[in-house]
Amino acid sequence: MEHNGRLLGTFIATKEHRRFVEFANAVRKHRYIGLCYGPAGVGKTLSARRYAHWDLIEPFIEQGAREHPERAEICATLARSRAVFHTPTVLGTLRDLRETLDTRMFHVNTCIDGHLHQDETGFQVIDLGARHIEMLIFDEAERLSVTAIEFIRDIYDRTGVGVILIGMPGMEKRLERYPQFYSRVGFAHHYRPLTGDELSFVLTRHWRALGVDLDGADFTDAQAVASIARITGGNFRLLHRLFTQIERIMKINELTVITDDVVEAARSTLVVGLA
Ligand SMILES: Nc1ncnc2c1ncn2[C@@H]1O[C@H](COP(=O)(O)OP(=O)(O)OP(=O)(O)O)[C@@H](O)[C@H]1O
Ligand SMILES: [Mg+2]
Repeated sequence: MEHNGRLLGTFIATKEHRRFVEFANAVRKHRYIGLCYGPAGVGKTLSARRYAHWDLIEPFIEQGAREHPERAEICATLARSRAVFHTPTVLGTLRDLRETLDTRMFHVNTCIDGHLHQDETGFQVIDLGARHIEMLIFDEAERLSVTAIEFIRDIYDRTGVGVILIGMPGMEKRLERYPQFYSRVGFAHHYRPLTGDELSFVLTRHWRALGVDLDGADFTDAQAVASIARITGGNFRLLHRLFTQIERIMKINELTVITDDVVEAARSTLVVGLA
Protein backbone atom coordinates (compact mmCIF):
# COMPACT_ATOMS: atom_id res chain seq x y z
CA MET A 1 0.00 0.00 0.00
CA GLU A 2 1.17 3.46 -0.78
CA HIS A 3 0.90 6.16 1.83
CA ASN A 4 0.52 9.22 -0.25
CA GLY A 5 -1.96 11.98 0.34
CA ARG A 6 -5.29 12.22 1.99
CA LEU A 7 -7.12 10.21 -0.66
CA LEU A 8 -5.60 7.04 0.69
CA GLY A 9 -8.27 4.66 1.84
CA THR A 10 -10.98 5.95 -0.45
CA PHE A 11 -11.54 3.17 -2.88
CA ILE A 12 -13.22 4.31 -6.08
CA ALA A 13 -15.39 1.65 -7.72
CA THR A 14 -14.23 2.39 -11.25
CA LYS A 15 -15.47 0.82 -14.46
CA GLU A 16 -12.25 -1.21 -14.55
CA HIS A 17 -12.99 -2.48 -11.07
CA ARG A 18 -16.48 -3.52 -12.14
CA ARG A 19 -15.00 -5.26 -15.19
CA PHE A 20 -12.61 -7.08 -12.87
CA VAL A 21 -15.52 -8.20 -10.66
CA GLU A 22 -17.37 -9.56 -13.71
CA PHE A 23 -14.24 -11.37 -14.84
CA ALA A 24 -13.66 -12.84 -11.39
CA ASN A 25 -17.27 -13.96 -11.09
CA ALA A 26 -17.05 -15.70 -14.45
CA VAL A 27 -13.83 -17.48 -13.45
CA ARG A 28 -15.44 -18.52 -10.19
CA LYS A 29 -18.66 -19.70 -11.80
CA HIS A 30 -17.01 -21.76 -14.54
CA ARG A 31 -14.04 -22.76 -12.38
CA TYR A 32 -11.52 -21.66 -14.96
CA ILE A 33 -8.01 -20.36 -14.73
CA GLY A 34 -8.14 -16.65 -15.54
CA LEU A 35 -5.29 -14.26 -16.26
CA CYS A 36 -5.52 -10.59 -15.37
CA TYR A 37 -2.78 -8.36 -16.69
CA GLY A 38 -2.20 -4.63 -16.88
CA PRO A 39 0.50 -1.99 -16.43
CA ALA A 40 2.01 -1.16 -13.01
CA GLY A 41 -0.12 1.08 -10.85
CA VAL A 42 -3.51 0.86 -12.60
CA GLY A 43 -5.24 -0.78 -9.63
CA LYS A 44 -5.08 -4.55 -10.16
CA THR A 45 -4.03 -5.39 -6.60
CA LEU A 46 -6.58 -3.08 -5.02
CA SER A 47 -9.41 -4.54 -7.12
CA ALA A 48 -8.48 -8.11 -6.28
CA ARG A 49 -8.07 -7.46 -2.56
CA ARG A 50 -11.40 -5.68 -2.55
CA TYR A 51 -13.07 -8.58 -4.34
CA ALA A 52 -11.71 -11.05 -1.76
CA HIS A 53 -12.36 -8.64 1.19
CA TRP A 54 -8.71 -9.25 1.95
CA ASP A 55 -8.19 -6.11 4.07
CA LEU A 56 -10.63 -7.72 6.48
CA ILE A 57 -9.60 -11.37 6.09
CA GLU A 58 -5.81 -11.04 6.20
CA PRO A 59 -5.59 -9.59 9.74
CA PHE A 60 -8.29 -12.04 10.81
CA ILE A 61 -6.15 -15.02 9.78
CA GLU A 62 -2.96 -13.51 11.12
CA GLN A 63 -4.37 -12.52 14.51
CA GLY A 64 -5.73 -15.92 15.40
CA ALA A 65 -8.94 -16.62 13.55
CA ARG A 66 -10.38 -18.92 16.20
CA GLU A 67 -10.78 -16.38 18.99
CA HIS A 68 -11.41 -13.32 16.86
CA PRO A 69 -14.19 -11.18 18.39
CA GLU A 70 -15.84 -10.58 15.01
CA ARG A 71 -15.48 -14.13 13.83
CA ALA A 72 -19.17 -14.62 13.04
CA GLU A 73 -19.44 -11.57 10.77
CA ILE A 74 -16.14 -12.29 9.07
CA CYS A 75 -17.12 -15.89 8.40
CA ALA A 76 -20.39 -14.68 6.90
CA THR A 77 -18.40 -12.43 4.55
CA LEU A 78 -16.14 -15.33 3.61
CA ALA A 79 -19.15 -17.54 2.93
CA ARG A 80 -20.11 -15.02 0.26
CA SER A 81 -16.69 -14.24 -1.25
CA ARG A 82 -15.27 -17.79 -1.03
CA ALA A 83 -11.90 -16.50 -2.16
CA VAL A 84 -8.32 -16.74 -0.93
CA PHE A 85 -5.85 -14.04 -1.96
CA HIS A 86 -2.11 -14.67 -2.03
CA THR A 87 0.98 -12.65 -2.98
CA PRO A 88 4.00 -14.92 -3.52
CA THR A 89 7.14 -13.51 -1.91
CA VAL A 90 10.19 -12.64 -3.97
CA LEU A 91 12.47 -15.70 -4.06
CA GLY A 92 9.83 -17.64 -2.14
CA THR A 93 10.25 -21.40 -2.18
CA LEU A 94 7.59 -23.91 -3.09
CA ARG A 95 7.48 -24.85 0.57
CA ASP A 96 6.68 -21.24 1.59
CA LEU A 97 3.90 -21.11 -0.96
CA ARG A 98 2.51 -24.42 0.13
CA GLU A 99 2.55 -23.61 3.84
CA THR A 100 1.02 -20.16 3.46
CA LEU A 101 -1.67 -21.44 1.13
CA ASP A 102 -2.41 -24.39 3.39
CA THR A 103 -2.87 -22.13 6.39
CA ARG A 104 -5.05 -19.65 4.54
CA MET A 105 -7.18 -22.30 2.89
CA PHE A 106 -7.60 -24.15 6.16
CA HIS A 107 -8.78 -21.07 8.04
CA VAL A 108 -11.05 -19.86 5.27
CA ASN A 109 -12.55 -23.30 4.74
CA THR A 110 -13.13 -23.91 8.44
CA CYS A 111 -14.63 -20.48 8.87
CA ILE A 112 -17.10 -20.93 6.00
CA ASP A 113 -17.92 -24.41 7.19
CA GLY A 114 -18.72 -23.17 10.69
CA HIS A 115 -20.91 -20.47 9.22
CA LEU A 116 -22.86 -22.86 6.97
CA HIS A 117 -23.40 -25.59 9.54
CA GLN A 118 -24.56 -23.49 12.41
CA ASP A 119 -27.65 -25.17 13.85
CA GLU A 120 -30.44 -23.41 15.75
CA THR A 121 -28.65 -23.60 19.09
CA GLY A 122 -25.67 -21.81 17.60
CA PHE A 123 -23.53 -24.92 18.02
CA GLN A 124 -21.08 -25.28 15.15
CA VAL A 125 -20.49 -28.62 13.49
CA ILE A 126 -17.16 -28.35 11.72
CA ASP A 127 -16.66 -30.59 8.72
CA LEU A 128 -12.99 -30.36 7.90
CA GLY A 129 -13.28 -32.33 4.68
CA ALA A 130 -15.61 -29.79 3.10
CA ARG A 131 -14.25 -27.69 0.32
CA HIS A 132 -15.93 -24.34 0.38
CA ILE A 133 -13.29 -22.30 -1.38
CA GLU A 134 -14.21 -21.41 -4.93
CA MET A 135 -11.36 -19.17 -5.93
CA LEU A 136 -7.63 -18.67 -5.43
CA ILE A 137 -6.17 -15.33 -6.48
CA PHE A 138 -2.42 -14.98 -6.97
CA ASP A 139 -1.07 -11.44 -7.25
CA GLU A 140 2.42 -10.71 -8.66
CA ALA A 141 2.23 -13.95 -10.62
CA GLU A 142 5.58 -13.28 -12.34
CA ARG A 143 7.16 -14.37 -9.08
CA LEU A 144 5.79 -17.89 -9.40
CA SER A 145 8.39 -20.45 -10.38
CA VAL A 146 7.77 -23.28 -12.80
CA THR A 147 7.22 -25.68 -9.91
CA ALA A 148 4.87 -23.23 -8.23
CA ILE A 149 2.81 -23.06 -11.41
CA GLU A 150 2.75 -26.87 -11.52
CA PHE A 151 1.66 -26.90 -7.88
CA ILE A 152 -1.21 -24.50 -8.62
CA ARG A 153 -2.27 -26.58 -11.61
CA ASP A 154 -2.35 -29.60 -9.34
CA ILE A 155 -4.59 -27.83 -6.79
CA TYR A 156 -6.80 -26.70 -9.65
CA ASP A 157 -7.15 -30.22 -11.03
CA ARG A 158 -7.73 -31.86 -7.67
CA THR A 159 -10.11 -29.39 -6.10
CA GLY A 160 -11.81 -27.68 -9.02
CA VAL A 161 -11.36 -24.15 -7.63
CA GLY A 162 -11.21 -21.20 -9.98
CA VAL A 163 -7.78 -19.60 -10.17
CA ILE A 164 -6.79 -16.03 -11.08
CA LEU A 165 -3.22 -14.99 -11.80
CA ILE A 166 -2.51 -11.25 -11.77
CA GLY A 167 0.55 -9.73 -13.39
CA MET A 168 2.04 -7.33 -15.87
CA PRO A 169 1.39 -7.43 -19.62
CA GLY A 170 3.58 -10.18 -21.05
CA MET A 171 2.70 -12.61 -18.28
CA GLU A 172 0.41 -14.49 -20.66
CA LYS A 173 3.30 -14.92 -23.11
CA ARG A 174 5.45 -16.47 -20.43
CA LEU A 175 2.69 -18.89 -19.43
CA GLU A 176 2.28 -20.02 -23.02
CA ARG A 177 5.50 -21.91 -22.49
CA TYR A 178 3.70 -24.23 -20.06
CA PRO A 179 1.15 -25.88 -22.35
CA GLN A 180 -0.49 -27.96 -19.62
CA PHE A 181 -1.15 -24.89 -17.53
CA TYR A 182 -1.97 -22.66 -20.46
CA SER A 183 -4.52 -25.06 -21.95
CA ARG A 184 -6.57 -24.64 -18.78
CA VAL A 185 -6.77 -20.86 -19.09
CA GLY A 186 -10.36 -19.90 -19.82
CA PHE A 187 -10.25 -16.11 -19.69
CA ALA A 188 -7.72 -13.35 -20.07
CA HIS A 189 -8.58 -9.92 -18.76
CA HIS A 190 -6.76 -6.73 -19.63
CA TYR A 191 -6.86 -4.19 -16.78
CA ARG A 192 -6.71 -0.68 -18.26
CA PRO A 193 -5.93 2.82 -16.96
CA LEU A 194 -8.60 5.46 -16.33
CA THR A 195 -9.98 7.33 -19.31
CA GLY A 196 -12.57 9.97 -20.22
CA ASP A 197 -15.31 10.77 -17.73
CA GLU A 198 -13.86 8.55 -15.10
CA LEU A 199 -10.49 10.23 -15.21
CA SER A 200 -12.30 13.58 -14.91
CA PHE A 201 -14.19 12.23 -11.92
CA VAL A 202 -11.00 11.14 -10.17
CA LEU A 203 -9.32 14.45 -11.03
CA THR A 204 -12.27 16.40 -9.61
CA ARG A 205 -11.81 14.50 -6.36
CA HIS A 206 -8.12 15.31 -6.29
CA TRP A 207 -8.86 18.98 -6.97
CA ARG A 208 -11.36 19.01 -4.15
CA ALA A 209 -8.94 17.31 -1.78
CA LEU A 210 -6.71 20.34 -2.33
CA GLY A 211 -9.60 22.64 -1.58
CA VAL A 212 -9.98 23.81 -5.19
CA ASP A 213 -13.01 23.48 -7.45
CA LEU A 214 -12.51 22.04 -10.89
CA ASP A 215 -14.47 23.85 -13.60
CA GLY A 216 -14.51 22.04 -16.94
CA ALA A 217 -15.54 25.24 -18.73
CA ASP A 218 -12.56 27.17 -17.35
CA PHE A 219 -9.64 27.30 -19.77
CA THR A 220 -6.89 27.11 -17.10
CA ASP A 221 -8.54 24.06 -15.53
CA ALA A 222 -9.10 22.38 -18.88
CA GLN A 223 -5.46 22.91 -19.78
CA ALA A 224 -4.21 21.51 -16.46
CA VAL A 225 -6.52 18.49 -16.81
CA ALA A 226 -5.22 17.82 -20.31
CA SER A 227 -1.62 17.97 -19.07
CA ILE A 228 -2.29 15.62 -16.17
CA ALA A 229 -4.08 13.18 -18.44
CA ARG A 230 -1.15 13.26 -20.86
CA ILE A 231 1.52 12.91 -18.15
CA THR A 232 -0.13 10.12 -16.16
CA GLY A 233 -1.99 8.28 -18.90
CA GLY A 234 -4.79 7.75 -16.37
CA ASN A 235 -2.56 5.61 -14.16
CA PHE A 236 -3.76 5.68 -10.53
CA ARG A 237 -0.33 5.44 -8.92
CA LEU A 238 1.15 8.17 -11.12
CA LEU A 239 -1.86 10.38 -10.39
CA HIS A 240 -1.33 10.00 -6.66
CA ARG A 241 2.35 10.77 -6.91
CA LEU A 242 1.80 13.76 -9.17
CA PHE A 243 -0.85 15.21 -6.86
CA THR A 244 1.39 14.81 -3.82
CA GLN A 245 3.86 17.08 -5.60
CA ILE A 246 1.14 19.47 -6.81
CA GLU A 247 -0.03 19.86 -3.22
CA ARG A 248 3.51 20.56 -2.05
CA ILE A 249 4.16 23.15 -4.76
CA MET A 250 0.87 24.93 -4.12
CA LYS A 251 1.59 25.12 -0.41
CA ILE A 252 5.14 26.40 -0.78
CA ASN A 253 4.05 29.08 -3.26
CA GLU A 254 0.73 29.82 -1.57
CA LEU A 255 -1.20 29.15 -4.76
CA THR A 256 -4.92 28.57 -5.00
CA VAL A 257 -5.22 27.51 -8.63
CA ILE A 258 -3.79 24.43 -10.31
CA THR A 259 -2.30 25.82 -13.49
CA ASP A 260 -0.38 24.14 -16.25
CA ASP A 261 2.81 25.60 -14.75
CA VAL A 262 2.09 23.97 -11.40
CA VAL A 263 1.51 20.63 -13.14
CA GLU A 264 4.74 21.03 -15.08
CA ALA A 265 6.70 21.92 -11.92
CA ALA A 266 5.22 18.88 -10.15
CA ARG A 267 6.09 16.64 -13.08
CA SER A 268 9.69 17.82 -13.14
CA THR A 269 10.18 16.75 -9.50
CA LEU A 270 9.10 13.21 -10.30
CA VAL A 271 12.01 11.49 -11.90
CA VAL A 272 10.85 7.93 -12.24
CA GLY A 273 8.00 6.96 -14.51
CA LEU A 274 7.05 10.45 -15.66
CA ALA A 275 9.76 11.21 -18.19
N1 LIG B 1 -10.01 1.92 -7.34
C1 LIG B 1 -9.12 2.73 -6.75
N2 LIG B 1 -9.54 3.77 -6.01
C2 LIG B 1 -8.64 4.59 -5.42
N3 LIG B 1 -7.31 4.47 -5.54
C3 LIG B 1 -6.83 3.49 -6.29
C4 LIG B 1 -7.70 2.55 -6.94
N4 LIG B 1 -6.94 1.67 -7.62
C5 LIG B 1 -5.68 2.02 -7.42
N5 LIG B 1 -5.58 3.11 -6.62
C6 LIG B 1 -4.34 3.79 -6.20
O1 LIG B 1 -3.30 3.39 -7.04
C7 LIG B 1 -2.28 2.70 -6.32
C8 LIG B 1 -1.80 1.52 -7.15
O2 LIG B 1 -2.79 0.53 -7.23
P1 LIG B 1 -2.42 -1.02 -7.24
O3 LIG B 1 -1.34 -1.30 -6.25
O4 LIG B 1 -3.68 -1.79 -7.10
O5 LIG B 1 -1.84 -1.17 -8.72
P2 LIG B 1 -1.35 -2.49 -9.48
O6 LIG B 1 -2.04 -2.48 -10.79
O7 LIG B 1 -1.50 -3.67 -8.60
O8 LIG B 1 0.20 -2.17 -9.71
P3 LIG B 1 1.46 -3.17 -9.75
O9 LIG B 1 1.44 -3.82 -11.11
O10 LIG B 1 2.63 -2.24 -9.59
O11 LIG B 1 1.31 -4.14 -8.64
C9 LIG B 1 -2.92 2.30 -5.03
O12 LIG B 1 -2.00 2.23 -3.97
C10 LIG B 1 -3.92 3.42 -4.80
O13 LIG B 1 -3.29 4.53 -4.23
MG1 LIG C 1 -0.15 -4.97 -7.75
